[in-house]
Amino acid sequence: MYQSDLFKNGSFINGQWLTSSKYFSVTNPFDNSVLANISNAGVNEAEQAVSAAKIALMVWSKKTANERALLMRRWFDLIIKNQNKLAELLTLEQGKPLAEAQGEISYGASFIEWFAEEGKRIYGDTIQAPSNDKRVIVIKQPVGVVAAITPWNFPNAMIARKAAAALAAGCTFIVRPSTLTPLSALALAELSKQAGIPDGVFNVVVGTDSRSIGEVLTTHPDIAKFTFTGSTKVGKTLIKQCASTVKKVSMELGGNAPFIVFDDADINAAVQGAIDSKYRNAGQTCVCTNRILVQESVLAEFTEKFVRAVEALTVGNGLDGDVNVGPMISTSAIDGVKQLVALSLTAGAQMLTGGESQQGSYFYLPTVLTDVTNDMAIATNEIFGPVAPIISFKTEQEALEMANDTEYGLAAYFYARDIGRVWRVSEALEFGMIGINEGIISNAVAPFGGMKQSGNGREGSKYGLDDYMEIKYLCMGGI
Ligand code: SIN
Repeated sequence: MYQSDLFKNGSFINGQWLTSSKYFSVTNPFDNSVLANISNAGVNEAEQAVSAAKIALMVWSKKTANERALLMRRWFDLIIKNQNKLAELLTLEQGKPLAEAQGEISYGASFIEWFAEEGKRIYGDTIQAPSNDKRVIVIKQPVGVVAAITPWNFPNAMIARKAAAALAAGCTFIVRPSTLTPLSALALAELSKQAGIPDGVFNVVVGTDSRSIGEVLTTHPDIAKFTFTGSTKVGKTLIKQCASTVKKVSMELGGNAPFIVFDDADINAAVQGAIDSKYRNAGQTCVCTNRILVQESVLAEFTEKFVRAVEALTVGNGLDGDVNVGPMISTSAIDGVKQLVALSLTAGAQMLTGGESQQGSYFYLPTVLTDVTNDMAIATNEIFGPVAPIISFKTEQEALEMANDTEYGLAAYFYARDIGRVWRVSEALEFGMIGINEGIISNAVAPFGGMKQSGNGREGSKYGLDDYMEIKYLCMGGI
């Protein structure tokens, strides 16, 4: 069993650690060993969290932005001080390589630092009134109690990104993290307590009955806003549930990111960008490259260099220093990948490297498929695994048509040096985030979010606060 002063084994509600007689196990995806037994919360605990967050809202929303910022800054400092411990915990429960886990801890913390500062810059407006006896003023206020459901692929950063904006705006927060990776969420809660964030402001409800807890978080009348990161399919259900009380909703859903390599690209840079974007977190990232589109005249060079780089990646236990690709999260995740690869091979694709691994049931080797077409299942579905399908194209127009031919619109990437093409392609791609000669685009200062069925709202950046604020218009008459 895992031991650490940041290890907690039950929900954190109103500043208290809850235990119950029912437990579930958290396992290490590297070897399936049990890391912890966690108290299993349900509807009652979710409702307690809502009451606590509602009461705490009265205090937290009345603090000055500077008071909130100081407490959030303390939380940030404690996270950075404990970065190694948090990263180890994250790798143990999620599987990603330790260096990536360390990156995720500083990435998550950067949202707390950024929003602590940005909360001081929430401005309203005065507007020229339509008549002389009136004044028109706009103020921004916290939306209220916020509930979140977060995924297992970024067990720290997806919580930090939402909670930081909510707390900076003056809202209180309840999260239900994935029960595959709750330890990182509970460690964040422990550090929020040590930082002095008041009881009830940040609550974590950990329970396996996702349907019932989700129902409370999406339908409770005292919750004003709901935010979710996860699949488009689940997101659609949650949006429907939120409709019953007309909650403010923001959704960070699935993606199908094209990575386009044009004939004027720096091919070596494109190979490195594709490796970074595709194999980070074993391909289990919403913004991961899903399809590599390569212009015919550079196809052979790109493919040869890319396969060589993929074969140099080391696969294994994320805790081992030189590992680039860890295990996937579960056997069902692996099965989904195997099925998509099998379908594409039957449809005529070729496997240049990779495939099934002998290292245990949760591993899948970094894989490259070629002779893929844009209509194969591997190109139309979100792969969420370490498989890179390569599709060739002839013209810029054809690449754009293929890239946009998806219901998703989260991230896209392209490599080109011609400045006219860079503008044309940037404007034509129907995606919320575009990496131009860059494979890693996520950071706290930039708006993260998608178009089409990849969701709505933006996280991070100055735009990220708007999702947690109400705009109120004051019309002053009789002047
Ligand atoms: C995600 O996969 O949902 C988040 C990835 C990121 O923040 O870069």
